[in-house]
Amino acid sequence: MAFRIYDLTCEYMSAPLGLDEPRPRMSYKLASDEPECVQVARRLQLSLSEDFAAPVYDSGMVRTDETLHAEADLKLRPLTRYFFRITSRDDRGREASAVSFFETGFLGTAWRAKWITRPDDRKDDPVVPRFVRRFRLPEAPVRARLYITACGVYRAQINGQYAAPDLLAPGWTSYNKIHQYQTYDVTELLSAGQNELSALVGVGWFCGNLIGKNRRNVFGDRTALLCRLDMTFADGRTRRIVSDERFRWCESEVRLSEIYHGEDIDARVKARPLQPVALLDRGFSMLRGQQSAPVAPVEEIEPVALFTTPKGERVVDFGQNMVGFVRVRVKAPAGREIRLRHFEVLDRDGNCYFENYRTDRAVASYITDGGEDVFEALLTFYGFRYVCIEAFPGEPDLSAFTGVVIHSDLAQTNSFSCSHPLLNRLQSNILWGQKGNFVDIPTDCPQRDERLGWTGDTQVFCSTGCFNMASAGFYSKWIRDVVADQEEDGLIPHIVPNAFLKRGNGGACGWADCITIVPMTVAQRFDDLRLLREAWPAMKRWVAYMKNWGDDPDTYIGHFHFGDWLGQDGDTGTCKGATNDDLIACAFYALSARLTAQCAERLGKPRAAASYRRLFERIRAAFMREFVTPSGRLACSPRNQTAYVLALHFGLLEGAARSQAIDGLLASLKQSHDRLTTGFLGTPYLCETLAETGHIDNAFRLLVQEEFPSWLYSVKMCATTIWEHWDGIRPDGSFWSPSMNSYNHYAYGCIGDWMYRYVGGLRHEEDAPGWKRFAVSPTPGGGITSADLDFDSPRGRIGVHWKLTDGRMRISLSVPANTSADFTPAGAAEEPGLRITRNGKPVAFDGAPLPSGDYEIDYAFAEPAEK
Ligand code: BGC
Repeated sequence: MAFRIYDLTCEYMSAPLGLDEPRPRMSYKLASDEPECVQVARRLQLSLSEDFAAPVYDSGMVRTDETLHAEADLKLRPLTRYFFRITSRDDRGREASAVSFFETGFLGTAWRAKWITRPDDRKDDPVVPRFVRRFRLPEAPVRARLYITACGVYRAQINGQYAAPDLLAPGWTSYNKIHQYQTYDVTELLSAGQNELSALVGVGWFCGNLIGKNRRNVFGDRTALLCRLDMTFADGRTRRIVSDERFRWCESEVRLSEIYHGEDIDARVKARPLQPVALLDRGFSMLRGQQSAPVAPVEEIEPVALFTTPKGERVVDFGQNMVGFVRVRVKAPAGREIRLRHFEVLDRDGNCYFENYRTDRAVASYITDGGEDVFEALLTFYGFRYVCIEAFPGEPDLSAFTGVVIHSDLAQTNSFSCSHPLLNRLQSNILWGQKGNFVDIPTDCPQRDERLGWTGDTQVFCSTGCFNMASAGFYSKWIRDVVADQEEDGLIPHIVPNAFLKRGNGGACGWADCITIVPMTVAQRFDDLRLLREAWPAMKRWVAYMKNWGDDPDTYIGHFHFGDWLGQDGDTGTCKGATNDDLIACAFYALSARLTAQCAERLGKPRAAASYRRLFERIRAAFMREFVTPSGRLACSPRNQTAYVLALHFGLLEGAARSQAIDGLLASLKQSHDRLTTGFLGTPYLCETLAETGHIDNAFRLLVQEEFPSWLYSVKMCATTIWEHWDGIRPDGSFWSPSMNSYNHYAYGCIGDWMYRYVGGLRHEEDAPGWKRFAVSPTPGGGITSADLDFDSPRGRIGVHWKLTDGRMRISLSVPANTSADFTPAGAAEEPGLRITRNGKPVAFDGAPLPSGDYEIDYAFAEPAEK
């Protein structure tokens, strides 16, 4: 078709059910087989019926080139399906339209159901309860919706079939402030006659063990269920089943289930006596419909090897550090155990290494019932590459095991590869790190007794995360929890959802600054103003917190900080890099002030913007005063890469101080033989700072560095994910201390963003949010001679494929309909002989943005590719 509209979404989801957003936003993409396609007008209609015979909203054709976040000025009814039709008109007068739908959730109306739980004397029982309700129906309904949530994590079934593939529902939020519920279309699962609705409810994050050995009951002291099944029959009659005293509970086959410790399932446990439930006094005001894609099983991995270690342990290797669980198929007499202990790496002697899981048990134990058993995790997950088979009936066979990968089910939006095989493995590791740490919230790691929403890790990885997956809804959901968990004085906790029982655990620079960095990044990449509106008050309060701290409102000195966490230049054995905490804190204070000013600008608040810009200037002056000598040298010890990078990249240095810092940074790289010394806070900006100060060659040398410490060091050590420490496994095969050594910690994967922007050659433009216009300028370096990047932007697929051959740079570029590209021929020779064709026809290039179309670009490159 010549002009096409596709990929309709509502609140970043496709046909979502149970939306609790009073003004949901609808977005779409455009495609055209002819170039230079621009939308000139759009129409949005909403209707209760699919035929749109009587629309309840009609915007009429409105002149706009915007394709994202269309809103209807309409008060929505709760629990209602709205069809929406978008009609787009382009500048040639062609029209295209498409229909999708969303369904509203309760929108604050009453549930008319009760929270049910086990009686007090059983509330601490590790056996997972199954809540059950049986009922008869005269006929099968024509429409049925299950609205459901739990304190804990649940799996709901109707007549023995799962209501949805979702796992770990209702997801993890700061439950006592925002508690998600899910809406499932269960029409097909119900039938005439006897029906059964049931749900397993495990302790999950709500009341299971969380942080540290004996800590539990962080959000409440018992599991509970809340649900409502609304059914409509062919003649229009309705029936409702709600959670109340008519439910019963029984013991289930799940004898234990914990996020950290795994699951014990005894398949011999069949129907147990049904017992009365108790009611739980828990409100409804915190309930909110699913906000983003749920966690689900997304892919399966077959194991690559079964072997015996020197110690005699039987091990299955999945060949990939992954997050999810192992599905085991077995036929054995009743009462035999299968016991799998999960782990990430083998020690240097080739034996299982469990110590870095700390207090996590990470064991799946299954007892057979004598039939053909298939076991898998129901209410938990594991981070692992290997499992140690601690018990198995008979001789295990590889075909008995399948790795099931779970994560928040977001579309992967980036495919990147280049001529450097180790960088391709690095990209794979970054992506696997993202999968493993996108388990409903952005986590630090997925395997040990943390798996927490560490705010620092999240902000460090966010821009890479936005490239690789359609992450806007995922981050927005988490940011709502950050806002909800902010304390009265503006402090942002170290982890969100805040699972610390004590208040005041927060405010660390580069961690708490997630409240400015993450919304600004996401809003930029997805053109999301609403997220900025939601985060704005919290951003202001966080900046005010730093301002009010200590005696000097223009610095942020003397607070507790993690500093340049895991920087290589710290004392041996410590986690803290050597960079001065106060310097880093001041730099991030300045960054947050500047981002808050930019946020104010985007929200149309010029006075606030000016005031935060002034604050930034004052912090900059204070930084110069505190951390720069009169002659322009950084006045801190050591003067290291992170100190230089933050001062330069955050724009804190003036005059001679700036050029001295650039020289200092280059000298430091020379001294370290092109190896980085940076930790969590310096690393994300290191290559960028080098590129923007005109030293991209140095950035490339860091990128392709294979010696420790570097990104490719772990790749050379056969890592399949990003490690927490640059030296998680040392060259001699020894490990960093087990007290803090994850092999799936995505933070250093932040280099992805730089790689896509420079090697891939695709960059967002600050003044054109959501990739409305973008920059294209692939930059060969580091011996890389080609790269292929396909990015599904919110406005359609951008392709940048380049190859450097015989001194000529050849680029194939796809610019989606209704967008444009600022193209710069990086590294062009003096006489570049630039040739550009669009959809097969030559076009003249005058530096203006290239409109939509498929381009072939070709020019003479100034230097031959490095060897
Ligand atoms: C986590 C980190 C986190 C840090 C705070 C660790 O235990 O795994 O990634 O940011 O604590 O310093």
